[in-house]
Formats: sequence, C-alpha cells, structure tokens
Amino acid sequence: MSAIQLSDNVYWVGVKDPELRIFDIVMETKLGTTYNAYLVKGEKTALIDTVKKEFTEEFLANVNEIVPIEKIDYLIVNHNEPDHSGAITAILDKAPNIKLICSAPAVPFLKNVINREADITGVKDDHTLDLGGKTLVFKGMPYMHWPDTMMEYLQEDRILFTNDGFTAHYSGDTIFADEVEIDLDHEVYYYWDCIMRPFSGYIRRNLSKLDDFDIATVAGSHGPIYRKEPRKYIEKYKEWNADKAEGKNHVAVFFASNYGNTGKLAQGMAEGLKKHGFTTSINDVTELKAADAKELIESSTAVVIGTPTFNGDAVKPVWDLVNLFSTVYSIGKKAAVFGSYGWGGEGAKLVAQRLTGIKMKVYEENFRARLVPSDEEMAALDEYVDKLAEYFGAGKK
Ligand code: FEO
Repeated sequence: MSAIQLSDNVYWVGVKDPELRIFDIVMETKLGTTYNAYLVKGEKTALIDTVKKEFTEEFLANVNEIVPIEKIDYLIVNHNEPDHSGAITAILDKAPNIKLICSAPAVPFLKNVINREADITGVKDDHTLDLGGKTLVFKGMPYMHWPDTMMEYLQEDRILFTNDGFTAHYSGDTIFADEVEIDLDHEVYYYWDCIMRPFSGYIRRNLSKLDDFDIATVAGSHGPIYRKEPRKYIEKYKEWNADKAEGKNHVAVFFASNYGNTGKLAQGMAEGLKKHGFTTSINDVTELKAADAKELIESSTAVVIGTPTFNGDAVKPVWDLVNLFSTVYSIGKKAAVFGSYGWGGEGAKLVAQRLTGIKMKVYEENFRARLVPSDEEMAALDEYVDKLAEYFGAGKK
C-alpha cells in the first residue's frame, strides 16, 4: 500500500492490517484494521502518529514516498499505545533530531516508549504549530483512549486528526468512509462500546473542545476517514457518552438466588429504597443480558448487588455482572452488597472488595441474613435501607 493524498500536501501514510482478528485482547476485529498515520507538508513537515511495530518497514516506505524521513521536522504523537507508537523509535533512528510533540500528560509515557534522549515538547490546549503554510492547533482529549490522547486541527485544510476518537476497525480497498460498503454506524458504535465506553465520564467533558472547529474531514487512526458528514460521529459520541443517570434517581438491584432467600432480600432492598424516593428495578443476573446490564449500571444513581455464598465465594453470574462494571464508566458510583448465606457468608464481602478495588464507592456495611431471612432480619433490613438511602443521597436531588 502506498501513500494516499488527502488534500494539498496532506497524505495518508498508514498501513493496513486486514488479518487482525482480536484487538486489545477484548475486541473482535472481523474486518481487520488500519493504523493510520499522516504527513502534513508546509515549509516544514510534520508526521502525525506512527503504526504498530510489525508494520514499520511498510510504513517507512510510505513516508519515504512523500518525503525522506531524515527531512521530517516534527513527529506528532497523539497517543502512546503501541498500535500508534510502535514505529517511533524507527523514526528516531533515522531522524534523531526530530521534534516530538505530544500532550503534556503524554511526556512520561513517551519517554518510556522510546527509552532514549529526544527533543520532546508536551503541549496544552490551543497550542499552535506553524509549519509555514500549514497550521496545527492541538487539543488534549484525555481518556480518548488513554490519559495522553490528543487531537489536532489543520486549519488550512479543515482536517481534524482524532487518533482513536470516532474510529472503527476496518480494512478494505478504500480508506474513505464514503466509499465503504459496511454498516459503519455499527462498527463505530462497537469500537466505542469496547474501547471508549469505560471512559465516557471523561470523554463527555472534552467533546465540546471540538465545537469551534469548522471541520471538513475527520481523519482518525483506525479505519475509514470521514469526508462526508464529518461531524456525524462527534455528535454520536455526545449522545453515547452522556450521563445516563442524570436526573433519574434510579437504583438497580441485581441479585442471584438459588432458593429465593437472597431474592427475598432483593425485594426488601427495592421496596425500602422506593420509600426513600428512588425508582428501583430488581434484576435476576442469571437472566440478564450483558448489554442490558451495562445500560442499567450507567443509568443508575447507585447499584445494590445480592449474592449467595457458594463454596466460600460469590456465584459466577454475580461475578460476571461485577466484571461488567469496569467496561462502563463506574468510577465513583455508589454501591452496596447483600446476600443470604449458610455458614461462611464470604460472597458479599468479596464482591464489596472487588467493587472497592475498581474505585466504586461501596457502603461500608454489607447486609447478610442466614439461610431463610426471618422477620427480625427483614426488620433489620429496613433499618439498613434507611441508612443506605441516606448514603445514596435520598432527598438530595
Ligand atoms: Fe488505537 Fe488506543 O490505540
């Protein structure tokens, strides 16, 4: 694959990886992917991003078609994940005096990627790089996908280089979205769901940084480049990353129950929380689809999880639910844990520890009842819910 011209003195110099079937361990890539990099030539030349290490030779050949690597003045490092930073050291080998530009938070990451001395500048929002006839304006976009992520707008050509943002994994004959014959809406959503969704609380705070740019083209680091409807997926991201719990005051009660005892506690939790003004839903995790559970977590002010204890542990369907919390933005979300147990009763404690470990705010006391909840235990549950409701912010709307 050779370099492709995007506009006057702006080129795609990336590579295609059509055989890739798994990305970042967690994401299927049935359509392969591309690692997009770009060259911008003014009086000086900037290379925007590199590619995965295995594709270094092809990438260097593409760049050399346009300009000898030794003559490049700047390397813009939008993100240090190895799928984009994998060929930086190869560039430095050929152009040791090249100026590396990255976001301020990216500086320590970049130093640990290249492991050598180099000319690195960490930039902040609205930093401008004048190449002579081509002008880049930078915006930090933390957590899209890492804390280091940055984008830049090429003023003269109205191109926004977005790195991972708004992209999809796809490799085909064309690099342009208006020429592909796939369900791109689905692919962009799937990418967001797998890669961006855990950071939605950060992403939604940053998207407005792009509002003032008059964008003609969105050129990301994977898959197709958007020349038509360039703002389409920026607007979709605003929708997908919105705070779905805002204004709802909902508590999702999740539980698994073999003999109905933890289920009875779940009912008591939900009814008690309702008395304090919350809307509630009771969700048997053995019947709940992962996609629905993720929506529920995101749209809840707080969550309550009930598990029995089997073999000194919580049960697998509860762990499956717990494992979903880090696939959405759940940092700081309030939670509580409860369950019926026979002898040890470790399940609730282990779940509470895990939720705390992923930075959720877990109520300090778990509620447990032994075997069949008695009237006394249900009365104790009512008292527990009174305290829990206050912790969840009842009456503070
Ligand atoms: Fe495409 Fe987060 O790297």
